[in-house]
Amino acid sequence: LLSQMGPDALLTMILRKHPSQRSAEDLEVIYEELLHVKAVAHLSTSVRKELAAVLVFETHGKAGTVLFSQGDKGNSWYIIWKGSVNVITHGKGLVAKLREGEDFGQLALLNDAPRAATIILREDNCHFLRVDKQDYIRILKDVEANTVRLEEHGHTVLVLEKSTTDSTDQGGAGGSSKYTVMSGTPEKILEHLLEKVKFVCSSTDSCVGDFLLTHKIFMASSQLCPALQHQYPLMFTLEKADYSLAARQKVVKLLGQWVLLYGRLLKDDPVALDFLEKEVAADSRLSTMPKDQLRERRRTRLSHHLKWNCLKGAIYGELSCLPLLIMSRVSVVFFTLVLYEISRPDNIPITLMLPVNTSVQEVLSAVVKPGADYVLVKMNSMGDRAQLKLDSSAVSVGLGLNERLFMCTSSQVERLEQQGPEQGTADALEQMCSKDVASQLTHYDWELFTAMHEVELIYYVFGRSKFPGATTANLQRFVRRFNEVQYWVATEVCLCQDLMKRAALLKKFVKIASVLKEQRNLNSFFAVMFGLSNSAVQRLYKTWERIPSKTKRIYCAYERLMDPSRNHRAYRLAVAKLSPPYIPFMPLLLKDMTFIHEGNKNYKDKLVNFEKMVSQTKLFVHHKCGSCTKLINFNVKALVSFASDIKCISIFCSG
Ligand code: CMP
Repeated sequence: LLSQMGPDALLTMILRKHPSQRSAEDLEVIYEELLHVKAVAHLSTSVRKELAAVLVFETHGKAGTVLFSQGDKGNSWYIIWKGSVNVITHGKGLVAKLREGEDFGQLALLNDAPRAATIILREDNCHFLRVDKQDYIRILKDVEANTVRLEEHGHTVLVLEKSTTDSTDQGGAGGSSKYTVMSGTPEKILEHLLEKVKFVCSSTDSCVGDFLLTHKIFMASSQLCPALQHQYPLMFTLEKADYSLAARQKVVKLLGQWVLLYGRLLKDDPVALDFLEKEVAADSRLSTMPKDQLRERRRTRLSHHLKWNCLKGAIYGELSCLPLLIMSRVSVVFFTLVLYEISRPDNIPITLMLPVNTSVQEVLSAVVKPGADYVLVKMNSMGDRAQLKLDSSAVSVGLGLNERLFMCTSSQVERLEQQGPEQGTADALEQMCSKDVASQLTHYDWELFTAMHEVELIYYVFGRSKFPGATTANLQRFVRRFNEVQYWVATEVCLCQDLMKRAALLKKFVKIASVLKEQRNLNSFFAVMFGLSNSAVQRLYKTWERIPSKTKRIYCAYERLMDPSRNHRAYRLAVAKLSPPYIPFMPLLLKDMTFIHEGNKNYKDKLVNFEKMVSQTKLFVHHKCGSCTKLINFNVKALVSFASDIKCISIFCSG
């Protein structure tokens, strides 16, 4: 009988055998055949041999049969042996047709996620070679091609790549997910990330976080909101209830993450806020909508009903707290008060606390009667002055280091003169213990650092003007602080007239640097060290001669940390050993981000270069985990006013 069979029939017969019953010759026949199958032709001989031993033959008779549905758990990978299938996704319908020799169903296995599409037979009598999940993982996972490309209507919409780093990166499936998004259309990236969102997972999904932090670069909120709505069917039918609810849950989970991430910053994004509010309202409607339908079928479908109610409760519970979440975030740009120091023409300063984004008009009306002919002028130590426009905002954080704000009448502008400091505070500093000074610096830095929102870094690096309504005020304030501390150190040392006291002050600053380093406040550590390496301080040879050799050794060791050679290798090695929280050396962080930004395009072959977005956020998202108490052993004396007293004094800026 065998000798009368054609090759196809023989092969089919072998394939139909249970894998455990296949003889060595059978395996050889299958193996030979696999050489001609596109989906596996690129695999090595040994892998194809292993596959031959586990492939299961599966046939389906009728066109229109659903092989599996989007959202199902994924159990197998399929190769089309004969026939063709349609790939259908919710919201988009038919996105691709797959033919003989092509494969599908690997995504769910690789990412441990639900099926990303529904597969329906296009013709009668289709044959598949199926590999079940365990076998797939065992044989193929490590040898699978490094890149998975998904197409829709003949165009690539998503490119995933096997990540060589830690498998927990990009959130995913806690260890089993190794494929990360390289590029894609914004909608497809969103769809893919949503597939991977786990409803029960309580921790923030970092990949979704990366998406939310950077979405404005490639997808304005006005596109993101409808795209999110598109992710779940608007009409809830009982048959699709499970899928619809699961999809909606994921969207809700993402919305929760969005709100947590941006907090009150969402107020600057009216489209997003409007959408979120509508979603909350829609959800309360949702919770009553299907009741009538369900009542009719209550008896027959009781279990379904229970499931529906249970899911519904979970969703409603999560969304109903959105307004609360919106209010809860501490990093609040417009609500943060900053110190405005405004000098009168006689150089006597007026200080007041105003919201960081206050306009010039508002600043003026806070100090003078309405209608008075007063102007706000910015002047530097060289005497250059500029009158500020009434509608400019956040002028205090935008000031250069040697610039000051003056308030005067228009006729006084030309006569303004900036007076520099004449006396240092070495005597007061002498009374303070280095640890207290460092703790207070760190405390204040931590406040500034945490008030700064991560997205400000993104706006700063990608160009704030590209994001309407975006602010980088907190970031600018923090960067300015670095310069303030740096010039404060140099100024204090140089204003100290007495040689002995000056040497003691130098020693004290080295000690302060050392405590700052211990406290993992690298920003101020570098600021103090930069201050000490200022040429005006460096050339005080007699002073340096007087500091103890131990202090000098410590100073030299710290100088090596500042060495910029080999791309700041010494600093990077030291930081690699630190665990969060720590305050990073901000100028270098910004430099790294700018480097990545300039070296990589936002789009690759018309697809969003998501790899770039992730590498940007990776640079900064971890620093803040934890609280300031982890940095400082809380033993801070009453030095509350001290930190804000540190002022940048202009003499060194003006040379
Ligand atoms: P998986 O998610 O396991 O199940 C559906 C399969 O459809 C998916 O793996 C891919 O192998 C395949 N597929 C092909 N094109 C697409 C597409 N554009 N979107 C989603 N899945 C697709």
